Amino acid sequence: MTVSASTPPFVSGALPLLGHALEFMRNQDGLLRRGYREHGQVFALRMFRNPVAVLTGPENQKYFFTMTDKTLDMEKPYDFLATIFGKVAFLGSHATYMNQRPVLHVLFGREQMTKYLPEMQVAVQEWLDGLGDSGEMELTDEMNRLVQEVAGRCFLGPEVHARLGAAFWRDYALLGKALDPLLPPRLPLPKFIRRDQAKARIRRALAPIIAERRNGTERRADGFQLLLETAQADGQPLPAEVVDSMIMALMFAGHETTAGQAAWSIIHLLRHPEYRARVQAELAQVFPPGTAYDHVKLRELEATRLAVDETSRLTPSTETLFRAAEEDIVLDGYTIPRGWLVQTSTAVGHALPEVFSDADSFDPLRFSAERREGKHTFANITFGGGLHKCAGMNFANAEMTLVLALLFQQFDLELLTDEIKVERGLGASRPTKTWVRYQRKA
Ligand code: HEM
Repeated sequence: MTVSASTPPFVSGALPLLGHALEFMRNQDGLLRRGYREHGQVFALRMFRNPVAVLTGPENQKYFFTMTDKTLDMEKPYDFLATIFGKVAFLGSHATYMNQRPVLHVLFGREQMTKYLPEMQVAVQEWLDGLGDSGEMELTDEMNRLVQEVAGRCFLGPEVHARLGAAFWRDYALLGKALDPLLPPRLPLPKFIRRDQAKARIRRALAPIIAERRNGTERRADGFQLLLETAQADGQPLPAEVVDSMIMALMFAGHETTAGQAAWSIIHLLRHPEYRARVQAELAQVFPPGTAYDHVKLRELEATRLAVDETSRLTPSTETLFRAAEEDIVLDGYTIPRGWLVQTSTAVGHALPEVFSDADSFDPLRFSAERREGKHTFANITFGGGLHKCAGMNFANAEMTLVLALLFQQFDLELLTDEIKVERGLGASRPTKTWVRYQRKA
């Protein structure tokens, strides 16, 4: 490939053959922030031999999220995910995606959210009741289990969730462990064999439930029912084999992402007693014990929501998103040649001094009505943007807000782990193991 002189400038420190790959794996934030310091909002990395353009700053991020798949393609970079979950929704071709999009979005419409919120509250309250009066817990794993419980009850429905049991989540974890963007996905490696076996078991478990739901007369209020009933753009319901792929893909998109940020939001509140006092005062006023969770309460929990928003900015679960340039792109004075990978970076984009003041500090009030920092639609890209903006954003925000509200309403907590770092997974980032001591309030 010939690369013209006006391609985005490369960050310093590329190694022969490896390029920046090693540093990207070891210290992604440091590398990307150096790129910004050296070259500004648009620069390039080399992953082994492949050049990657990094687009940061609200306007370049807007470009990333609003270009159609003809210019910036999503399918190729996420192909390794499609091997696991199937070519459904955002992992499928543009035509498949557009056909299935109505089904995807009805799952998170306001009407359906109204049904999810009470179910969410039952799941979170059951978790809190199970903690006992006092003890210690490891937050990251605990949030993982809780988010599974919430997702299971809301999307699969309490009855399907109970019927599938722990085996479903054990198999689902095997799918996650086989995520690998580098190796050919059909290699006969043990992790890929276990992945295929797990997928087959999930399919076998779901098949009779799908058949029962389709043939039965009872209508349930869960997401599963909607997946089965809602017509795609072509007027047809999702075929059975797509329903189970869609469930797996949704769990992937929404599970570790929400768990990681929920854990961080608790950590941030524990580290910031002044802001925690504001949240506690709000809870005492608008969300005392016994309050039912609904859209009105969610709106009233403003200080709690701002803490969730600031967590999304400061410690997002999804830090880099990828596309493939399908044609030459001229942006910010550079040419990004066809064939390059293109990525975003929250490490840079969420820390730009011209957009966010004192960006490395936890300051939820930056998003308050008075300050309205980062009000550009594409300044905070935790949930992406444009056509593929996170379908589950409202669900995730409502869930994280509820977890904070009920936890701090009912427990006093103390952070026991001092040094907490970002642990990067292929699906999402999360905090490293974090221990918390808790005591039920009198
Ligand atoms: C804190 C939690 C979450 C974060 C940070 C997050 C982040 C994101 C991001 C960044 C994208 C865009 C990906 C891209 O453009 O390449 C996305 C898309 C998506 N997310 Fe989420 N997500 C979260 C929770 C959820 C939940 C709970 C669900 C549903 C169960 C969900 C379902 C989806 C779906 C279906 C898409 C694809 C939308 C489309 O292509 O139209 N997400 N998410």
